[in-house]
Amino acid sequence: MIIAGPVWAWKPAPPVNGAIQSLKNGKGKTASIICTAGGQVGDSLDVMRKALEKQGIEVTGELGLIPADLETNEKVEAFAHTLMKENI
Ligand SMILES: Cc1cc2nc3c(=O)[nH]c(=O)nc-3n(C[C@H](O)[C@H](O)[C@H](O)COP(=O)(O)O)c2cc1C
Repeated sequence: MIIAGPVWAWKPAPPVNGAIQSLKNGKGKTASIICTAGGQVGDSLDVMRKALEKQGIEVTGELGLIPADLETNEKVEAFAHTLMKENI
């Protein structure tokens, strides 16, 4: 499972929180999370990870992105590698 969404006020946007809360039968599953932000990801990844862990979902990959991160592929490629390792 990959959950991605924008940062609002240094936290996940409310629809992201709502989507996580509405998950069912997550126990024992894994997820990777992505937050996009205009400047600062803030606490977003922590908030998402904790909400998922409460449901018994282990977070195995995290990516926070601001526009400057897209000037190279480095961060996105490193994240893609964690996803590929998960699926082997
Ligand atoms: C209501 C609102 C609050 C936002 N708060 C933040 C913030 O706290 N920190 C930040 O870096 N970007 C913030 N942003 C910018 C979004 O995170 C950013 O636009 C989004 O991740 C990138 O999507 P876009 O390219 O579709 O705008 C905010 C945007 C909106 C609309």
